[in-house]
Order: sequence, then C-alpha cells, then structure tokens
Amino acid sequence: MAHDTIVILDYGSQYSQLIARRVREANVCSHLVSWRTPEDEVMALRPQGFILSGGPNSVYDAHAPALPDYVLTSGLPVLGICYGMQLLAHRLGGRVASSQKREYGPATLQIDVLDNPLFEDWGLKIEDLRLNHQSSIINSQQVWMSHGDKVEALPPGFRVLAHTGNSPLAAAADTARHYYAVQFHPEVAHTPQGGRLLRNFAQRVCACALDWTPVNFITEQVEAIRAQVGNGRVALGLSGGVDSAVAGALIHRAIGDQLTCIFVDHGLLRQGEALQVVATFEREQGMNLVAVNAIEEYLDALAGVTDPEMKRRIIGEKFVRIFEREANKLGQIDFLAQGTIYPDVIESAGKDKKDAHVIKTHHNVGGLPEDMDFELVEPLKLLFKDEVRRVGTALGLPDSIVWRQPFPGPGLAIRCLGDIIWERLERLRQADAIFTGELRQADMLKQGTQQAFAVLLPVKSVGVMGDGRTYQEVIALRAVTTEDFMTADWARLPYDLLAHVSRRIVNEVDGVNRVVLDITSKPPGTIEWE
Ligand code: XMP
Repeated sequence: MAHDTIVILDYGSQYSQLIARRVREANVCSHLVSWRTPEDEVMALRPQGFILSGGPNSVYDAHAPALPDYVLTSGLPVLGICYGMQLLAHRLGGRVASSQKREYGPATLQIDVLDNPLFEDWGLKIEDLRLNHQSSIINSQQVWMSHGDKVEALPPGFRVLAHTGNSPLAAAADTARHYYAVQFHPEVAHTPQGGRLLRNFAQRVCACALDWTPVNFITEQVEAIRAQVGNGRVALGLSGGVDSAVAGALIHRAIGDQLTCIFVDHGLLRQGEALQVVATFEREQGMNLVAVNAIEEYLDALAGVTDPEMKRRIIGEKFVRIFEREANKLGQIDFLAQGTIYPDVIESAGKDKKDAHVIKTHHNVGGLPEDMDFELVEPLKLLFKDEVRRVGTALGLPDSIVWRQPFPGPGLAIRCLGDIIWERLERLRQADAIFTGELRQADMLKQGTQQAFAVLLPVKSVGVMGDGRTYQEVIALRAVTTEDFMTADWARLPYDLLAHVSRRIVNEVDGVNRVVLDITSKPPGTIEWE
C-alpha cells in the first residue's frame, strides 16, 4: 500500500527525526532523508510535500547545504523550518541576516494572520476584554527558538504570518505556491502547538491521507517480510528488549516457524533476565527458541577492554559469529532479523544519514562486521520507539514486554565501567536490582522515569563501616525522564527513596561503599555512561 508521504530533507539538525515523528503522530507517513539524496530516490517515495529541517549551517557558509532544484520544480508544498526557512528565503530572493548571536529558548509567538492553514485548531480565539471595553485576539503561543541567522526580508510573494520579540518574521507563507516557513521549531515539545502545525501542513496544505497506523503497518510489513523471505529461514537475535520482541512477533506473524529466535546469553544481562526471556518467548509466545550460554566466551573476549566503542565492536562481532555458528547447527539460515529501529540507524550515522555525527555505535547497526554473510530483515527500521510499542500492542504482546524499559544491546558491558569481570558484573546486577526493584515498588518505573539503572564506576573511595576503614567501588544511579531518548532530563526521584536505595546497596552489595546520583541531562550527557 502506497501512503501519502511527507519527505523531510535533513540538513543536520538534532531535531530532524522529531519532525518525522510528529508527522507520523498525525497518522501521515513521513521519511527523513539527507538533502543530498538523489532526486530519483526521493521522488520514488512519492512525496505529497516537503519539509526542510533545521541545521547547524549558515546559508552563507562556503559549502552550505543546498536546496535541490527538484523541490521547487516539483510544484509540491514546502515547509521550511529554521535553516530550512532561511534556505527557502535565500533561494527565492529574500535576504538572510547572518548573526553570531544565537536565539535559544522559549519565545512568544504573536500570530498576525489567523486565517491560515498552519494555525488552524491552535485554540486561538477572540476574547472580550471588558475591562478595557475592547476586543482582543488571544493570538499568542509559546514556541521554541534555536537559531543564529534569521530571515530579514521575505522573498516576493511571501507575507509574514507571525512574529516574536526577536524575530519579526517568525512565520511566513506564499500561499499561492504553497510555500510555508517558520523560524521556530514546531517539532519539539517546547512548542506545544507544534504537532498541530505539522499535522496542518501535512493534512490541510499537502492533502495527505491519515493512513499511517499500526494496523496498516503490520499488514504491510507482513506482506513485505513474506516477499523478502519467500521460503527462506530467518534467525532473530532476541535480547528480551521491546524492539527485538516486537520484531520477533511481527516476523512470527508473517512466516511462523520459518523463524527461529536465537537468544545469546552473554552474561551481560540484568538479574533474572535470561530465565525470563526463555519463559516469555518459548512458553508464552510459542516461538522456536535456541538459548545459547556464551558467558565465558564473552568474558574472555572482553578481558582487559575498557574503551566503550571497542566493547561495542567486540560484542557486536561476537554476536554475529555466535549466530553463524548456531545457524550452522540449525541447517540453512538465510536471513538475520534484527529489532533495529530508526533512532539506531540515525545515531549510528548509518548509511541512511551520512551527515550525523557518530555519537555511539549501537551494536545492532554500526558494529556489524562487514563480512557478515546474512541478508538482514529489519521490519522496524523506520519506526520510532513509541511506534514500536503501538505496533507491539496491536500484535497482542503483553504490557510487560511492550512497556519494558529499554536496555542496550551491549548490556551491562557499557554500565560496568573499567574491567569487565564476573565479580564486578554481579556487583552491578545486584545494585541494579535493588534500585529498579525499589522504583517498581514505588510505582515509579513507568511514571517517574522512562529509564533507570545502576552504573558501576571504575573508581574506589574510602568509607567507614562499623569501626573499619573500607576502600571499595562506587555505584552511580541513573534515572531519566524522556519522551524519545534523544533528549532527556534526570528524574527528580524522592530523596527518601534515594536514601533507602543507597542504604540498601551499601549494606547488601559486597564491594560497594558509596552511591552517587547522576544529575546530568541529555544533552550534554548521554543516558548511558559509555
Ligand atoms: P544514549 O546513551 O545514547 O542512549 O543517550 C539512548 C538510548 O539508547 C540506548 N543505547 C543503546 N541501545 N545499543 C542499543 O541497542 C547500544 O549500543 C546502545 N547505547 C545506548 C540507551 O539505553 C538509551 O535508551
């Protein structure tokens, strides 16, 4: 089924994928592609409109990312956001003022032209201010600004739609040509009506059908998986996390017993997790499951390795080698399935996005050895986490799986800073179980924090226990609130709960005499420590 689609040309903003997500939240299909993507590839997506993302450049930079000709010659609607606005204005004969000074943070948008599709359903209304004996229009909304340059003069045919204190041209349009432009970021949560704006663009300006739904996605993917796999056999690396579980359930629905799930116990899982994975997928879901104990093998390979990217590479590579070995035991396996999701692909600066910085190599994408001899089946590659959960629920998976907190592929290896040895892993597992157990009991695992875990630090500190001096390791508690795991804030957990957790860890976990709390947001920190 072909969907009406919005193509977002990515100019390198950290928020680009949020644009895609917001459009999809309006049940409209969207794709995020680099602005460099060849015209035929972009037009093959059959866009009904284009959104130009923000980006770190100035249109005056020597090698400033350009607006491809086909965007304008296609005659399709265009919405430029931030750098996208400047690019559009620059290209169409407006003037962009370059500036060293950034405007960053909330701003109040005053809407000058109410009768405009972008601002429909924004809840703007005329109110009678009786005290002053005059009518006024409540036409202001909070928006989020993050820009240096800005448009100073609009191109011919455009008119201003809204302004802020700092940006007289905060939103503008040439409605005859269906060109729209906003200086602020409608995609971020700090622009409360931003989702509406993007939906309005997709639905009212581009006339897209609202057919991007979990049920349609499942139907299409089941067909796509059948077409790709034919009579072949598929092996899936099951980690127990949401992504591989949903991928497994989806593929299982498409091809049943042609799928074998391989669960590699690398010894880097949380307490009790290995047993739980087997129970859930083999017994409850009825999938073919091979459980491999590879703990010794992983510990040998990781001995003495402390560099985070090296850990990821080793774990990724081992994973594939073990797969090959198990696959050989099973007979012919033709495909490797993975629960790779869109953010993995983007953050790993995978082949779909060459412009992004490599922040961390996620082992299920960037760390794969190049000589791997499986073809990949990655049915969730285009989905955001929240979409994966919706698909999981639509597939009938229980909440205990669908709403599990994310757990990284490399597991505790990237939370056990310094040497990875069994004793330290056990220490970490115990501390983590205490922390998450207490959170669960306080009903804070879903509400108060979207991801919470313990980290074992590679330092020792002095303490006193009873009458004796101790010199032992340190546990850091990490808990974040986040909507999308791209940005996050540290969770404000109750002090009493933290005190209780700290007391329990120091008393119950051998070799730990100090507990600290991580109070770093993302950015500038990341959620994981490595
Ligand atoms: P960061 O640390 O990059 O994490 O802020 C964002 C989200 O991604 C998870 N994460 C990983 N997941 N392989 C994965 O499958 C990895 O190598 C990896 N590193 C981080 C992290 O747990 C968080 O949910």
